Amino acid sequence: MVTTYDFTGARIVDRSEVPLILVGDSLGMVVQGHDSTLPITVDHMIYHTRMVVRGAARPLIVTDLPFGSYTIETDAIRNATRVMAEGGSQSVKLEGGVQVAPTIRRLVDAGIPVMGHIGFTPQSVHAIGLRTQGRDADQARRVLDDALAVQAAGAWAVVLELVPAPLASAITERLEIPTIGIGAGPGCSGQVQVWHDLLGLYGEFVPRHAHRLRALADESVAALDEYAADVRSGAFPAAEHSRTMDAAELARALEGIG
Ligand code: KIV
Repeated sequence: MVTTYDFTGARIVDRSEVPLILVGDSLGMVVQGHDSTLPITVDHMIYHTRMVVRGAARPLIVTDLPFGSYTIETDAIRNATRVMAEGGSQSVKLEGGVQVAPTIRRLVDAGIPVMGHIGFTPQSVHAIGLRTQGRDADQARRVLDDALAVQAAGAWAVVLELVPAPLASAITERLEIPTIGIGAGPGCSGQVQVWHDLLGLYGEFVPRHAHRLRALADESVAALDEYAADVRSGAFPAAEHSRTMDAAELARALEGIG
């Protein structure tokens, strides 16, 4: 799974072999420039999901329910329904384990497929801090209980974020639904990466678990510098970039003008 936030990105994923798109609320950081995912609204998620849906026919599309949009169960139903009906998404994802399990159950009963998200949950960053979850036995047991609760509530998959690799493997072995890891080691059923991390588009902060396979920000800067140099030197635009017209027509247009 990879995050994607717009039409062009979705077209690219559509051409790849990646089976799942997450329209993640990480767009608050990598697209909107906030320092957390908290300012994202349901309207933002619908807006971006629509763009992604227009560009991707093959991958399954999952959309994050943003911070505060599912705290109250009736809000969860209304907002998830909007994300599916107005956005065109095929599943929602929400953060939390035992505490949100009743909400997951309500959504699933309403016909809305739900992906869970446990371990480090970015929407709770101010409550739990940006740290690995489940390093000691008590914490690890809580993460396992969260995983089991999310599964029992009817989620079809669960993201494990910043969970020690041995714990993520132990959870994956005990669940029937797939686990999708980010900073959770190789023992998960699948992996998710943020688009900008994978392609090297977001330079300010590179998380340790980022699989940076390209440096597209650096390549883009080089391309822009080349463009500016070509314009300054006159190498661009060349004849092949230009449109022509009949010289007699131009002469006629300029008749009488100094
Ligand atoms: O919003 C997001 O990008 C996510 C991933 C980190 C799983 O939730």
